[in-house]
Amino acid sequence: MIALVINSPRGTADIYGDDIKYRNFVINTVRELFEVFNFEEIITPAFEHTGVFSRSIGESTDIVQKEMYTFPDRKGRSLTLRPEGTASIVRAVVEKKMLISENIPLKLFYIGNMFRYERPQKGRMREFWQIGVEALGSDDPMLDAEIIWMLNKIFDQLGFKNLKLLINSIGCSRCRDNFIIRFKDFIQPEIAGLCGDCKNRYQKNPLRIFDCKVPGCKAIAVRSPKITEFLCDSCIVHFGKVKEALSDLSLDYKVSDDLVRGFDYYTGTIFEMVSSDLESAQNALGGGGRYDRLLMEFNGPDKPAIGFAIGLDRTIMLMKDLGIKYITSKSKTKAYIISIADTGSSYILSILKELRDGGIICDIDYLGASIGAGIKRAGKKGFNIAVIIGDDEINNNTITIKDLKSFKQYNINKDKLLEKISEITGAVKND
Ligand code: HAM
Repeated sequence: MIALVINSPRGTADIYGDDIKYRNFVINTVRELFEVFNFEEIITPAFEHTGVFSRSIGESTDIVQKEMYTFPDRKGRSLTLRPEGTASIVRAVVEKKMLISENIPLKLFYIGNMFRYERPQKGRMREFWQIGVEALGSDDPMLDAEIIWMLNKIFDQLGFKNLKLLINSIGCSRCRDNFIIRFKDFIQPEIAGLCGDCKNRYQKNPLRIFDCKVPGCKAIAVRSPKITEFLCDSCIVHFGKVKEALSDLSLDYKVSDDLVRGFDYYTGTIFEMVSSDLESAQNALGGGGRYDRLLMEFNGPDKPAIGFAIGLDRTIMLMKDLGIKYITSKSKTKAYIISIADTGSSYILSILKELRDGGIICDIDYLGASIGAGIKRAGKKGFNIAVIIGDDEINNNTITIKDLKSFKQYNINKDKLLEKISEITGAVKND
């Protein structure tokens, strides 16, 4: 018999306990913000036809070359677990003809799991979660600023203090073509020092040499001319207006001409939110940029677009490392029913029902050894009220309530239950 494998696959996570609370806090915070910025949710499949990703992200990128979970389905069609959200969203927008003039810019957000076959380490996983936004249909520099502002605001709202917002422009295809000629001239005498992958990239897609993590290649890329020096007039003007709008919004940003980002679909403005508290290889909490030609490459309208994604797992990891706490929405009333009565389950159920119908978070102590032990458990589990039921209570149609903050105890008539609890919790709030 083959032994049962009981561990989770490398680079995946089970999310539970405190992590769920962090996750809900982050998701609730961004959902509220997306509503304020007028974005609507979209959910797309976790897998797509492989071409959706390979064509848009770029055949010679690391993601497509080495990191995709690609498999044939039972009919031999090549499918891929999504390594990112943008390509799927653009596929959906074109396929469902969502981009019509009345709703430009089309503003969408998504929350989903992504899959990349990377070497797992702190903050880098094979299945991870992204929260992303895409605004499609406009190339107004103010939209770039709005999107970058929203990225910044997410981390602000979550309680981060020392993050850095990096921006750059990688120009349009005209700027890029001019730059590639110059870049190839620069690399030519250095080819021998490049890794095997980069020698290949030099032939097929030289810009991807900038993404290489091999130290020798990095050292060469750092000395190279910068794409920013090759921007055409209209890209210079566009980027200038983006910077102006960011200053109008009082955002603290840094122009980083080393920023390239590893996807072929980007054009013009790109940006990243980085933390010096994360290891440099995984220091980005989120990033994005313009992709003005991608809709067209999917046979959609010739319309520009911009978006970003943040890494949910990485964000939560850093919040915990930095001691940033999640905030629960309201201090809710939580009642714990402790019963040592020999009989009386219908009495207990009627109380449980009344409490839950009244919107009070409520649970029963099923271990039921003693009232003292039950009260201790209630405190540990974060309940603020203990509802104690013994034979006397059942016989007299009463309930004993203990306020677990003041430790005051009340014996009341059963039909005064909700009234008494709201009196106690009201008193707790006024403390
Ligand atoms: P990305 O920079 O590849 O961009 O990913 C965005 C964020 O996802 C990263 O900043 C990071 O926080 C998180 N992330 C990426 N890979 C991993 C991993 N292996 N483990 C944990 N977290 C990870 C995109 O995916 C683009 N689609 C963003 C975009 C949207 N651009 C335009 N629109």
